[in-house]
Amino acid sequence: MRIDVLTIFPDYLAPLSLSLIGRARERGLLDVSVHDLRRWTADVHRTVDDTPYGGGPGMVMRPEPWGLAFDELVPVGTTPPRLVVPSPAGVPLTQALAADLAAEPWLLFGCGRYEGIDQRVLDEAADRMPVTEVSLGDVVLFGGEVAVLAVVEAVTRLLPGVLGNAESLTEESHTGGLLEAPMYTKPPVWRDRPVPDVLRSGDHGRIARWRRDQALVRTARRRPDLLAALPPGTLDATDQLA
Ligand code: ADE
Repeated sequence: MRIDVLTIFPDYLAPLSLSLIGRARERGLLDVSVHDLRRWTADVHRTVDDTPYGGGPGMVMRPEPWGLAFDELVPVGTTPPRLVVPSPAGVPLTQALAADLAAEPWLLFGCGRYEGIDQRVLDEAADRMPVTEVSLGDVVLFGGEVAVLAVVEAVTRLLPGVLGNAESLTEESHTGGLLEAPMYTKPPVWRDRPVPDVLRSGDHGRIARWRRDQALVRTARRRPDLLAALPPGTLDATDQLA
């Protein structure tokens, strides 16, 4: 997969060289380029923002650098990328959206700052490529960079060949619509807190039942919205919600 990121803070994206994303890049599974949006400014101050029409606090990102950047990165006649723009006004990032994005050959991220990007940038881009505005949650960040890190991480781990153990993709939170059960490792007792006996019983049927019950209780308490959204038939007769 190819990924391009447009930002006025390229250093913010340095973690894209670390850990498993860095490894995926080294292995050629991911081709990431981070571009400084100011490269497409012409004035001495390399201005990317201006005051909002209609008034109000803060600044808005001017359209011109974005247009020139898109012209250069997405030449006419080439198959365009999917443009992903982080925004608190976007659709929520979910595992389903991450899977959808992971199926794309090329993602172009545009990081807004200040009060956002001039709407005409998004409107013009939508005439040339698919555009998805994505929100990291009902919270306001300084800009899109941290959201890009989150989206790229969620997408990268779904790319074929990135995760060694394919099972770790199927058992975890949200792939089955439920939160994961709590996990334990050695030692068996730590600060007077024992690992639940069932997990050390070797009885795989009981362990699966316990994990399922824990997942249901956790989901009911923490995310009743997820439980309500489960497709019919997901809960069976053996599931009891405590
Ligand atoms: N930029 C500012 N806030 C954001 C959020 N919640 N999600 C994505 N991008 C953002």
